[in-house]
Amino acid sequence: MTLNKTLTLLLAGAAMTVTASAAMAQQTNLRVFVSSQHRPDVWRKAFDMYEAKNPNVKVTLETGGNTSEQQAQYLNTVMTAKDSSLDVMILDVIRPAQYAAAGWTVPFNEVIGKDVKAYMDRYLPAYAEANTVDGKVVALPAFADAMFLYYRKDLLDKHGIQPPKTWAELTAAAKKITEAEKDPNLQGLSFQGKAIEGAVCTFLLPYWSMGKQLVSNGKLSFDKDAAVKSLKLWKDFVDQGVAKKNIAEVATDDTRKEFQAGNVVFAVNWSYAWGQFQGNESAVKDKVGVVKLPAVEGGEPASCLGGWEWGVSSYSNNKTEAQKLVQYLSSPETSEFMAINAALLPAFPEKYTDEDVTKAVPWFANAKPVVETAKARPVTPRYNEVSEIIRTTVNGVLAGQQTPEQGADQMESRLHRVLR
Ligand code: GLC
Repeated sequence: MTLNKTLTLLLAGAAMTVTASAAMAQQTNLRVFVSSQHRPDVWRKAFDMYEAKNPNVKVTLETGGNTSEQQAQYLNTVMTAKDSSLDVMILDVIRPAQYAAAGWTVPFNEVIGKDVKAYMDRYLPAYAEANTVDGKVVALPAFADAMFLYYRKDLLDKHGIQPPKTWAELTAAAKKITEAEKDPNLQGLSFQGKAIEGAVCTFLLPYWSMGKQLVSNGKLSFDKDAAVKSLKLWKDFVDQGVAKKNIAEVATDDTRKEFQAGNVVFAVNWSYAWGQFQGNESAVKDKVGVVKLPAVEGGEPASCLGGWEWGVSSYSNNKTEAQKLVQYLSSPETSEFMAINAALLPAFPEKYTDEDVTKAVPWFANAKPVVETAKARPVTPRYNEVSEIIRTTVNGVLAGQQTPEQGADQMESRLHRVLR
């Protein structure tokens, strides 16, 4: 063997070793946190498709927390500990700005490239806005969300009732149906009275419907009269027997489960519930209607903007791979896949009228204007405190610990200390 050939062989061997070890080194394990309420089973399928296209990436799914605050509590612990084991996390729409301010997530601007604006303009404006802080893209949309009124189509048809347009109409309809049905387990209305994040929206729905804002130009613009009316509206449902007595213990997924078991005529809930109502385990499959929420008498209907966003942890050791995965999870293709298979609302406007999407989830075509006009909860770095004040007051009034007037008084003075 000539020296040259020997050298060539040696070099080739070395190159092979390098390639093999490079391939091993390139194997990236990504750990992704998904809320247990939002169809981790279907997200898993989306991860499987990604793994199939990217054999060097393995995605491990972690789930937890039945409510937004439980999830936040868990993630806060992970982030405070600077734990590098979690790479990607799903965040409630109220949190990306807060996480970015804490330095817990990394911006996407570099991986997006030159035209960040065009990239973000593909999404519904509310989500482009919620995920952009001072020009930095701090998270990317997983799915859109808003609150709707679900109703038992079969029961409304049976009693010749149209879906209500005002809360007063809803009260009359619920009473008529429950009285006629004589089913002691049948509730007229279920909504969220537990001191969870969702109860902030419970308070804001009628408040907004009266045309009032909570914050304007960064300052508190609390309308006490509207706040009393809002709290009273919900408390009256309990006092009149339209909602159940222990509504102060009801969280989002309780409403979903009770409605799904066939024990509720009307339910205020987020979009994820529909897919579950249509599941095979559901007692109300094909008996569910969904419309925009009723308005207060003389007011405009209002919905609360929800949604979930993907953030990449600053403590991840695989930030670039994690961001690539998130770009896929936040793509029009994945959005369509999640709409069809999990009935999660798309963050892309054109997907609401996509033929395959409307075939799977017919009501999405009507959901778009609701999402587009849904109002965002106040944006402030002190949102956690604002949320805590509102949700504990709603809960206290519904539990009968305070009157609506006392609740509104307390809310006003506490909010004044946080938002000046
Ligand atoms: C839904 C919404 C989210 C909201 C939460 C409240 O998951 O998407 O934005 O904060 O419900 O319970």
